[in-house]
Amino acid sequence: MGEQLNQNTVDDFIPSLNQTTDEVAWDLYRKAIRFGTWDPAAIDLGQDKKDFEAIDDDLKGYLIHFCTGFLDAEENVALKFCPWIMLGSSTEQQAFLSTQLVEEFKHTEFFMRYFQEVFGRERIVGVKNIVQQKLDDRVKMMLAALEKGEEEREAALVEGLTHYQGIIEGVQAMTGYDVYEAVFGSKGLFPGLAEGFARIKEDEGRHVGFGLRMLKLLARNPEHAKRIRGLYDEYLPYILIRYDQPVIVDGREYPTPPEVQGRERLTKMFERRLKDIFGKPVAR
Ligand SMILES: [Fe+2]
Ligand SMILES: [Fe+2]
Repeated sequence: MGEQLNQNTVDDFIPSLNQTTDEVAWDLYRKAIRFGTWDPAAIDLGQDKKDFEAIDDDLKGYLIHFCTGFLDAEENVALKFCPWIMLGSSTEQQAFLSTQLVEEFKHTEFFMRYFQEVFGRERIVGVKNIVQQKLDDRVKMMLAALEKGEEEREAALVEGLTHYQGIIEGVQAMTGYDVYEAVFGSKGLFPGLAEGFARIKEDEGRHVGFGLRMLKLLARNPEHAKRIRGLYDEYLPYILIRYDQPVIVDGREYPTPPEVQGRERLTKMFERRLKDIFGKPVAR
């Protein structure tokens, strides 16, 4: 079954280690300024509203649950992202990371609009994402590191990049795009949502590309390599919970479509990211 999964990769977007980090950061900053200019308010959602009315209740319930997960995640990372910018160690790095901050708010805006205009309702409460919840502590640790020496700042940044770009964006969000494609995109439904995802994925290509390149570089230091590996392993059970939870909307449980295959997709994406960072399949 695993072979059939259409796994998203960002291999093409991981910048080379031959350039300096500042060169890479500036290049991505310029790309964001020039090309990252899509407007979440300009995507036509008219057909999506019709498609939503036409699908059966089970798929309706699943889509509301699925999009709540994305809205919660985009909003949470947008609200908490400032320490990642502050720990950037140059003007170039902070400039690039500042484009990521506004992009996360654009992704949030897109899903807020989707709930309002397509679903005609608020998001649901209680879609569990422990990796997201752990960002609260991460933010505190990163802010505390700002007062410390260079070594501690770098260690905090390594953990921050692993948690956010390496796991939330690199594993969870990337898996979400594949799940969407398998359940809805491949059926030609929801063209507005498909366009939103396509735009968001372009932005995420820069975010994850920068993050994974940083982690690849920093993993050359054995202490950092241990930190990165440790966090991936610690979070794996929390990552897997995402698609194991029952899909409950307004007190009613809906079946998970068979195409989701959440656990298989997440596990494959997890392995893929470790390989991106450490360059070879890593024994577990
Ligand atoms: Fe995002
Ligand atoms: Fe992102």
